[in-house]
Amino acid sequence: MSTENNTMISGSELAAKLYHHLLMNTEQGKDAFHYLTERGFTTEMINTFSLGFAPNAWDTLAHFFDKRKVSLNIMEQIGLLAKRDFDGKFFDRFRDRVMFPIWNKDGKVIGFGGRVIGNDHPKYLNSPESKIFNKSKILYGFHIARSEMRKNNEAVLFEGYVDVITAWQAGVRNGVATLGTAITDEQAKLIRRNAESVIICYDSDNAGLKATYRAIEILEANNCNVKVANLPEGYDPDDYIQKYGSEKFRKEVINANQTTMAFKMNFLRKGKNLQNEAERIAYIENVLSEITSLTNAIERDHYLRQLSQEFSLSLNALKQELYRLYKQKK
Ligand code: GTP
Ligand code: MN
Ligand code: MN
Ligand code: MN
Ligand code: MN
Repeated sequence: MSTENNTMISGSELAAKLYHHLLMNTEQGKDAFHYLTERGFTTEMINTFSLGFAPNAWDTLAHFFDKRKVSLNIMEQIGLLAKRDFDGKFFDRFRDRVMFPIWNKDGKVIGFGGRVIGNDHPKYLNSPESKIFNKSKILYGFHIARSEMRKNNEAVLFEGYVDVITAWQAGVRNGVATLGTAITDEQAKLIRRNAESVIICYDSDNAGLKATYRAIEILEANNCNVKVANLPEGYDPDDYIQKYGSEKFRKEVINANQTTMAFKMNFLRKGKNLQNEAERIAYIENVLSEITSLTNAIERDHYLRQLSQEFSLSLNALKQELYRLYKQKK
C-alpha cells in the first residue's frame, strides 16, 4: 500500500479514537451521549462499534491533526477536513454529529457516517469516495459480523448502521449493512464468500420494500440462498426492537423469515384490489411470471397450487399459462 493510503487510514483511525474519547469522557460530548442513551444505546454497543462525537466547532480535528503532524491535505482528500476557499484554511467537515466509523474488511477505519443529533437534514453525512473508501465494495459491520456469518453460514442484511448495532445487541450478530445505496455485485460476493444464506431485513416502508426486491435479484444472481425477514409494515429493525424487544425480534422477525417468492407475492398484491377482476388477473400473471424464474420444480408446484386454491383456478389452466410465459421468455 502506498504511504499516502497508510496516512489516510492512520488518520481515520486517530480521528475515530478522538471522536470516541470526546463522546465518552468530555463535557462537549454529553448531549450526544444522552441522545444515544435515550435511543437505547448501551455502553457495550457504543464501545463495540466505536461510536463517537464530532463537536460543534470548526477546528477540533484540524487542530488535532496539525499538532500531530498529520498532513491536512491528505485528511482533506478523505473528507475529514475541508478547505476554505478564500484563504485555503482547513476546517472540520463533520460537526455536531454522532460519528459511526466505517471499517474495511480488516477492521481498519476508512470512513465515517455522521448522524445529526435530532431530526435535522441531511440526517447522515458520509465520507466521500476516496482512494481508501469505496462504498460499493464494503459492508458496514463486516469485520464484526464475519465470524458469526461463517459459523451460521448465514448473514443478515440491514439498511442502516443503527439497525446493525441494535440487532447486534438483540443477539443477531451476523448483521451487515450497505452504506445507504443499493447492494452491489461486489457486496453480494463478499457475503457469499462467507455465508450461503442471506436474510434481507430492510426497513418495511416503500423504499425498503423496493430495495428488497432489487437486493433479491442481485443476491440470487450471486448464488445466495435468499430469505426475507418478517418485519411488520412501518417499522425498521431498530424501531421494532425498541418496541417489542430482542426475543420477539429474533423469533418473529429473523427466524420467521419468508421465502423470496412469498415476499414477492405479498409485494405484488400491495395496494391491489383483488376483488376486481382485471387487477386479480394482472396479479396472477405477475405471480406466474415470477414462478417462471424458480428453478426448483417442487417450489413451482407449491406456488401454483397456492394460486389455484386462493383463486379457485384449475391447476391445468395455470400450468398452460406458465408454459406460455416460459416460451415468451426464451
Ligand atoms: P435512524 O434515523 O438513526 O434510525 O437511521 P436509520 O438507520 O433508520 O436510517 P435510514 O433508514 O433513514 O437510512 C438507512 C441508511 O441510509 C443510513 O444508515 C445511511 O447509511 C443512509 N442514509 C440515510 N439518510 C441519509 C442521508 O441523509 N444522507 C446520506 N448520505 N445517507 C443517508
Ligand atoms: Mn471505549
Ligand atoms: Mn430507510
Ligand atoms: Mn431506517
Ligand atoms: Mn432507524
